[in-house]
Parts: sequence; structure tokens; C-alpha cells
Amino acid sequence: MDKILVHGGVRLDGEVRIGGSKNSALPILAATLLTKEKCVIDRIPDLSDIHYMLTILGRLGCEVERASGVVQIRAEKILTEAPYDIVRKMRASVCVLGPLLGREKAAKVSLPGGCVIGDRPIDLHLKGFEALGAKVTVKGGDIILEATQLKGTRINLRGRNGPTVLGTGNIMMAAVLADGTTDIEGAAEEPEVIDLANFLTAMGARISGAGTQHIQIEGVDELHGANHTVIPDRIEAGTFLVAGAIAGNQVTITRCEPKHLGSVIEALKNAGFELSHTTDTVTISPNGFRRPLHIETLPYPGFPTDMQAQFCAMLATMNGTSVVTETVFPHRFMHVSELKRMGAVIDLSAHRATIHGVERLSGAPVMASDLRASAALVLAALPADGITEINRVYHIDRGYEAIDEKLNSLGAHIERVKS
Ligand code: EPZ
Repeated sequence: MDKILVHGGVRLDGEVRIGGSKNSALPILAATLLTKEKCVIDRIPDLSDIHYMLTILGRLGCEVERASGVVQIRAEKILTEAPYDIVRKMRASVCVLGPLLGREKAAKVSLPGGCVIGDRPIDLHLKGFEALGAKVTVKGGDIILEATQLKGTRINLRGRNGPTVLGTGNIMMAAVLADGTTDIEGAAEEPEVIDLANFLTAMGARISGAGTQHIQIEGVDELHGANHTVIPDRIEAGTFLVAGAIAGNQVTITRCEPKHLGSVIEALKNAGFELSHTTDTVTISPNGFRRPLHIETLPYPGFPTDMQAQFCAMLATMNGTSVVTETVFPHRFMHVSELKRMGAVIDLSAHRATIHGVERLSGAPVMASDLRASAALVLAALPADGITEINRVYHIDRGYEAIDEKLNSLGAHIERVKS
């Protein structure tokens, strides 16, 4: 397994270009199953999660061609059973359920395991499929969906921890070819849901309300091929803004969408950083003073859970006491024990981290765990004394394209050591 060595004590300067959104690309690639015609999707990031999804689509019978950031897919004849050996590697594989059910009225996909950020139930997805008329069976670790027809209905998708992003996408993809109209209440409002709805609409679907908690889908007979460019990755963008906060002189992120970063930009301003933006860039620089924060993760447009670990890394050396409350994935604190190995002083309660800022962290061997926790360790290591060795770096490669090369282009000194 590869590892990376981060040489601390660096200052970052310059510009970095943001790639296409992983969390938008994954359901959009799955949505190509809904038509026999060719779809061309641009700005697909080069990530292992994307590779897994393309492999699943290939095993389902799709013709897949990839040339740098452009993917062409044609799902002329498809199977309905996703391969366990690939599905088990990526929870987001569940988003093939909706299109398979929508087009073939059948699907068989293994239940996603939990992961380090906690239990990852899909009860809301299954509730939505049942409401549309599917028979849902869970047997031998597989989810089996069968339907003679799908009928539009009214569904509330809100769970105990708020809306479900992939659940909203899955039900949209199952409903676009159903008979009649489907009303989704308690829908997720994330930009990635809007991007998926825009792609489905380009394919001929009739969807209104994406980006609000009430989405309406009017079923149509069939969908045709379409071309689409994926939105910028707001979490990659936020991660590089935090890199600028932690170790920057001045860092600019380009080809991003500032309006998707509202709560992250606001939190960085509250922490005392100077931020400015144009239509597709954001620049961050220190402002002389820095303040501790109280942040709480919430569904969009609230502060994103996918930015929580990165902010913990920044707040670890912020003078004063900060409090980070995680309401979406309450156990998403794998990064805390590793940050403490670097000298951070953090008290962890049920779903809250109280962070007592220290002057400086020290490099240490640490273990990557989930995707965002791993990125947080890289960020924490940038200004730290000494070298930080981050093992199991495949976690980072799942969601960040060449993060080491991009940080080195800003002045970092990161070595990737092939195992
Ligand atoms: C998406 O996951 C993202 N992944 C996650 O990003 C992100 O953290 C999450 O949304 C929340 O914003 C992708 O888009 C591929 P949820 P998703 O369903 O859709 C509970 C990353 O780092 N829930 O919105 O799987 C669930 O347990 C990843 O890029 C149910 O109870 O998350 C959680 O507490 C990590 N029942 C909350 O809802 C369900 O059926 C939100 O989960 C589904 C979810």
C-alpha cells in the first residue's frame, strides 16, 4: 500500500484548479443506464471511486469509453445484477438500483457494508422503491428489487439524520420512467442533486424543484442520450481553501463554483481569514488574527459533513477552544485520534469534538481511514514540525485527484512512496 511523506513547515502560494465533482459524477454515470442511447459526460475526475463505478457499468453490459476527463457510455443491453466483488468496495454503488429498477423493473445489488464514518443504512432508498410499487427483498446480503410496473406516488425521504443525498437521486432515477407523477418530500437540496436532475432533464425527463425539499417528477415513456459536464467538486474546493487557511500566504482555487461554498466561506471568514471570489475562483489569505469556531454540520446549504475533518485539522492550531458538532454522521471522528498523535488536544464526546488550539503540531506516522479524514491529516501535516507519514493513502485517492501533486504545485513538499 502506498504511503505519503509530508515534510512540514511549508507555506503555500499560488493557484490550483478544481476538478469535477465525485459526488455528482457517480449518480450521473449510474443514470446513463436509463437509456439505450449514447451519453457523453465531461469533467469526470480520475478517482478510484469513478473507476469502480465504470467497472460496475461495464459488468452490467454498458459500452464504456474514457478519454481523459470525458466518458462515453452506451447501455444498449444491460444485466440487472451488479457484481459483488466491485460493489463491496464502494457504498455509492447503491445508486445503480434506481436506474436499473426504472428501466428494467428489476435489480440485484449487494447491501453496502458500513464504513468508518458509521452505519450507512439505505432504508429510505428501499422505502422509496416500495412506494413506487417495487417488491423489495433483502436476502443473502443482496437487495433484490422486482416490479411489474412503477407508479408515481408521494414519498417523504427525510430520515432521523435529515435528508438522504443518494436516496433522493435513486428515487428520482426510478421515478423518471414511472407511470404518473412522483412527489418527493424531504428531498436533499445538495448541488449534486441539482446536477443529476439537470442531466436527467437533458435526457428527456420531466423534473421540477431540484435543489429544494420538494421535487416533482412526471414520468415519461423513455429517455434519450445526452451530453453533460459535471459541476466542480465543492469538497475538493473547500479542502484546498482550508489548506490555504492552515499554511497559506495566498491561495486561489480556480474553475470552482463559489455559490456552492457559502457555508464554508462564511466559516473561514468567521475564523478570521480574508476571502474574495469571482464567478469561478476563490482566494484566501491570512488576515493577521485568527478566531476559534463553533461549527455544526448540517444538510446543504448548512456546513457540510464532508468538510468537518478538514476544519478539525485547521482548528487544532487555532488559539482558543473550538467546538465541532457532527449531526449527519455522528461517529465521523476517525481523524481525531490521528490528529492527537500529532499533538492536537481534542476532547471527544458523543458527536462533538472540543478542540483546544495548540501552537504547532508535530509530524508523526498516522493512519488514513476515511476519505476526508485522510485529507485532513495531509492538511494538518503541512505546517507541522517534521515529517508526517500517512499510510493507506488509497483512501485519499478515492476522492482526490493527485492531491499531493496539486499541493506540491502550491509549495508543499509531499513524497508518494510506492509500496
Ligand atoms: C452522500 O452520501 C455523499 N456521498 C457523502 O460524501 C456525504 O457525506 C453525504 O451524502 C451527506 O452529505 C456521495 O454522494 C457518493 P446520505 P449518502 O444518504 O447519500 C442517513 C464523501 O466523503 N440515512 O445523505 O450515502 C445516513 O446514515 C462522502 O464524499 C439513513 O438513515 O449520505 C446519514 O446519517 C462520505 N437512511 C444521513 O442519512 C438512508 O436510507 C445522510 O446520509 C440513507 C441515509
